Amino acid sequence: MITFDEQQKVFNLSNSSISYLFSIEEGGLLSHLYYGPTIRGYHGERFYPRVDRGFSGNLPNSMDRTYSKDDLLQEYSGNNTGDFRLPAVVIKTKNGARMTDFRYHSYKIIDGKPKLDGLPQSYVESDQEAQTLEVTLRDDVIKADLVLTYTIYRDRPVITRNARVINRSDDAFYVEKLASMQLDLTKQDYDLVYLPGQYGVERQTRRKSIDQGIFEMSSRRGASSHHMNPFAAIVDKNTDEFHGNVMATLLVYSGNFKISLESDQIDQIRLLAGINDDNFSWKLNPGESFQTPEAINVYSTKGLNGMTKVFHHLLRERVARGKWRDRQRPIIINNWEATEMNFDAAKLEQIVEEAKPLGIEMFVLDDGWFGHRNDDNSSLGDWYVNTKKIDLHKVANQTHDAGMKFGLWFEPEMISKDSDLYKAHPDYVLHEPGRGMTLARNQLVLDFSRPEVVDNIFNQICKILDDVDIDYIKWDCNRNLTEVYSAAYPANQEGEIAHRHILGVYSLMERLIERYPDILFESCSGGGGRDDAGLLYYMPQCWPSDNTDANERLRIQEGTSLVYPMSSVTGHVSAVPNGHTARITSFKMRGDVAMSSTFGYELDPGALTDAEKAQVKEQVAFYKKHRQLVQFGNFYRLQSAFTGNHVAWEFVSPDKSEALLFMYRKLSSVRYEIVNTKMYALDPDKNYQDSVTGKVYGGDELMNVGLFRDPTHKGDFISEVHYFKEVK
Ligand code: GLA
Repeated sequence: MITFDEQQKVFNLSNSSISYLFSIEEGGLLSHLYYGPTIRGYHGERFYPRVDRGFSGNLPNSMDRTYSKDDLLQEYSGNNTGDFRLPAVVIKTKNGARMTDFRYHSYKIIDGKPKLDGLPQSYVESDQEAQTLEVTLRDDVIKADLVLTYTIYRDRPVITRNARVINRSDDAFYVEKLASMQLDLTKQDYDLVYLPGQYGVERQTRRKSIDQGIFEMSSRRGASSHHMNPFAAIVDKNTDEFHGNVMATLLVYSGNFKISLESDQIDQIRLLAGINDDNFSWKLNPGESFQTPEAINVYSTKGLNGMTKVFHHLLRERVARGKWRDRQRPIIINNWEATEMNFDAAKLEQIVEEAKPLGIEMFVLDDGWFGHRNDDNSSLGDWYVNTKKIDLHKVANQTHDAGMKFGLWFEPEMISKDSDLYKAHPDYVLHEPGRGMTLARNQLVLDFSRPEVVDNIFNQICKILDDVDIDYIKWDCNRNLTEVYSAAYPANQEGEIAHRHILGVYSLMERLIERYPDILFESCSGGGGRDDAGLLYYMPQCWPSDNTDANERLRIQEGTSLVYPMSSVTGHVSAVPNGHTARITSFKMRGDVAMSSTFGYELDPGALTDAEKAQVKEQVAFYKKHRQLVQFGNFYRLQSAFTGNHVAWEFVSPDKSEALLFMYRKLSSVRYEIVNTKMYALDPDKNYQDSVTGKVYGGDELMNVGLFRDPTHKGDFISEVHYFKEVK
């Protein structure tokens, strides 16, 4: 998969679908040559075209005015040494300089994929699945090595990257920026696809043209955030869901990140992705190294749906881990929207008793069971049962006796001022002594850069989990980081705290999933404030939004689907009028939207009418029959919730013997629009029977002729679901 041509000095990473090439240019600079569909060999010019470009300087001591770092496509650029574009690495040395100029030193090709310590990552199950190239560069003035790591998967159009810097000098220096990767491209007519959002409106797919200048997608919130997902895709102008080239980058990281896209003086493109360098500085002592998070790169020639398929398989099969990775996920009922924190033992028992005959498989007790918490002003950090309110053993036993699983909510990274933990350890909070602490949801953030703080929370959670039989944990995180400062670190290491904090979060998660391998974990951060590949490494599913309005969920789930597998995307039917939008949608529509993800309910089953209960039973039975297909099938966006009134999504089983088609219409109109939906990725030679009409169609027919929706169907927010099964 990986070769090095000694003569041309070209590294070639190729599998059956993609090639990625770069060379060692004059002076030991790494020059990017090609990234795209597989090429059989490289016979082109090793050198990037040279031009004497005004105000682009040349290499030190070189009289060649045509060779400049400033317009060379590079693999990883230094700072303040001749490339005026954004640097990938900035190091501040003892003398105050921030110059980096790393040149080629050596390389190594390794079978498999080396593990990154303490960080989430994609993995392999055998060394035959991938090959890894480690290229070492050296800056002789700083006396530092830089190791650029590239792993190419054998059977996936995927290259993962990361970088590590090693201090080989006798003095400490400060790493002020170290990108996980850089991708330089020659001028093309590209667009950018990315996923901005906000609380309750997460991951809204957006597309824009790339213009000269710098565009930044980032978070400085201490979490990957609702506001911008750590994902970007550079696509050809003519790329759509089904056709065209896509170069996508996803960071496997849950903290402050920055993805910058620069279009330079001649419209060449540079994409940088990594830890956000704002407020970042890492002291590296002699002999120490600093490791970046991983970036996953996916190349698709089959449009955005093609990219999605690759991400879904990789994240589901080689990022998510544990017992639940490949297992069908239970249908949940969560009490949050039904009761918030206003519950007592009798209410919980009633929810379980009502949910059981409906076929629901798990009851999740959300916020408000611990400390003395009855509203969100207290008790975070006190992870012991509020025995005045409930007997947790009893709740768990009642749920298990009803034949259901039992899940519990935690928010481990947080602390309330009104808590025993705060009284005992006010210094455990991220804060700067002498400065007021920003409150959000009336809570503060624990300083997880300190191992003793992580230990404290670990021990408290273990006590509960050892004592009560718990099958599932919802892990929440309901605010972002402010006053990021740790009492435990010296002044010159305060720039490390945001990253150290997230490493502490990861370490707590790792310890818990290792100790409780049977528990199904679901991450959450006020909905989808940390829906990223980093957390997926620890928790195979994620609550993508607190917004359960069926109409708004269409866009949230569609945006999320761009990258994240449907087994990880959870969707619950909630009551109407919706708590966020006051919109009323039918029970069927709410069910059909939630069933296109990992399904559940978030309502008071006691408040349902008999007709609604009958619908729940139907939905539950339907979902149980088809959840393998939804959670582990291939997902395709056919008609987009972002661009039209009519939405269609499809799931196809890997062997193409069955498919589910979800169709939604937002608003009704007297235009009686004629809408034709063409299915995708079926087997053209197979025949499929539609479970709704009983009609049999050829796969070729469904994909080319398509299906019409009933234009006379009146009303807003309506849905149709068709199941197609192969018939001989
Ligand atoms: C967050 C979550 C909700 C719920 C509440 C509880 O907002 O996203 O689902 O768990 O916290 O406080």
